[in-house]
Amino acid sequence: MTSASGPLRLLFVCTGNICRSPTAEGVFRHLAAEAGLSRRFELDSAGTGSSHVGQHPDPRAISVARDNGVDISGLVARNVKNTDFANFDYILAMDGGHFRQLKAQAPAKARARVRMFLEHGDVPDPWYGDRIDFVEAYALIADGAAALLDTLARETTP
Ligand code: 4NP
Repeated sequence: MTSASGPLRLLFVCTGNICRSPTAEGVFRHLAAEAGLSRRFELDSAGTGSSHVGQHPDPRAISVARDNGVDISGLVARNVKNTDFANFDYILAMDGGHFRQLKAQAPAKARARVRMFLEHGDVPDPWYGDRIDFVEAYALIADGAAALLDTLARETTP
């Protein structure tokens, strides 16, 4: 369902909802605001796993985002829930594992379309890595968010 009336609702999904998906949510929100398109989108993020539910993003993710002028420090991790498939227009998987899990979880008649966040490939999990892995993940996410904004802005009404 495209959002002929009201904002397009996007849910970004990774494993823990403490590194990649909150970064994607924050970067997309930042880019939409810069483009004057904030009111055309409603954004959230969630995780396929539950081990970090209730936590703020990883300090490394917060730090790299902050270096790029994006504040994700107030976000709080939550799990993907079944109602998400009815409440969002797009559910955006940060890697192929999330994509497969979301497809398996999606009810038969879901409103949400499950898509990969990047047009080609995965955003690799930086959690077990070093700061450089977070910097690389951020760069991929920033490119992906810009491409996604460009594509999806055409599906929204001013
Ligand atoms: P994220 O990173 O999926 O980008 O938030 C991870 C965070 C935690 C875990 C895996 C990935 N974990 O296994 O707890």
